[in-house]
Amino acid sequence: MTTLTWNDQLALNQPQMDTTHQEFVDLLADADNALPGPEDRLLARWDSLVAHTVLHFKQEDDWMTATGFAAENCHSFQHQAVLQVMVECARRAREENDFEPLRLAVAELATWFPQHAQMMDASLAQHMAAIGFDPVTGQRRELAMADAEPITGCGGGSCGS
Ligand SMILES: [Fe+2]
Ligand SMILES: [Fe+2]
Repeated sequence: MTTLTWNDQLALNQPQMDTTHQEFVDLLADADNALPGPEDRLLARWDSLVAHTVLHFKQEDDWMTATGFAAENCHSFQHQAVLQVMVECARRAREENDFEPLRLAVAELATWFPQHAQMMDASLAQHMAAIGFDPVTGQRRELAMADAEPITGCGGGSCGS
């Protein structure tokens, strides 16, 4: 059992982000709980997780675009890479009846997500708070950002920028 459960360390005090992340954790747990059962049920739960992740990552990518990040930044690159793997796992299961990559990915996502949330998503949440960006209205308090250089790093410790 590799299930990741929601806990205070995952909360970033950004309500929209935290809600989306709780949903992600729940959907991943649903997939994890389906590992011992029939494969069509596992694949259906994986599909739900993938569909949610498309929107989850798009939401954050849109916020980055709206708050001065370059289109090419390491946080968005990581989203693309992870989603590509998730989609490929579904394809292998569906087209080749090979569920091994999907099964491995369920466990790997449970390890990956806390690291991503606590580094890249936390940096984005801090950046949004620092400039007074309201994701509901798309408005930001700090208009001086408009003249700033686009941000290509994520602000995380492992990212060189
Ligand atoms: Fe996220
Ligand atoms: Fe993210």
